[in-house]
Amino acid sequence: MKRENIAFELMVYDGFEELSENDQTLMEAAVAARKNAYAPYSKFQVGAALLLENGMVVTGNNQENACYPAGLCAERVAIFHAGATYPGVAIKALAISATSMNQPVSKPAAPCGNCRQSISEYEIKQQEPIRIMMMGETGTVLQCHSISDLLPLAFNNSFLS
Ligand code: THU
Repeated sequence: MKRENIAFELMVYDGFEELSENDQTLMEAAVAARKNAYAPYSKFQVGAALLLENGMVVTGNNQENACYPAGLCAERVAIFHAGATYPGVAIKALAISATSMNQPVSKPAAPCGNCRQSISEYEIKQQEPIRIMMMGETGTVLQCHSISDLLPLAFNNSFLS
């Protein structure tokens, strides 16, 4: 038996203002998208904005359902939107912002497990990492280089051929 450590680099920004101008613009798109979230049950509103290699920005927000599991997170709405509208165009970065009608959200919301798996599918497909930035409404912004940082040892298509 040998032991292996899996580590990744997480960049911690004190706040939105510390991001580059381009990243602020992408995060602003996530914040704007968040406002159209349909979240009458959780009251937790999430916006996601993807920057594509052609410069387009594709957004999504969480869409809930009275039958709870039928709803979808912001990240998957955005990434499926990009896959459906711009197939073959690589995704460079993803910005996520969350807020709540119940309480202020001052810490970043990281994508759920299902979203990590979905984002991973597109990263593998394009063979290029997707940089991910996460923010609440205010406070720290976290960034990682790739979804593989958030989903190590991911299940992938290599098992299916
Ligand atoms: N949600 C997202 O949209 N993204 C996340 O990263 C975490 C959770 C949504 C799903 C649901 O509509 C609400 O937030 C509460 O879980």
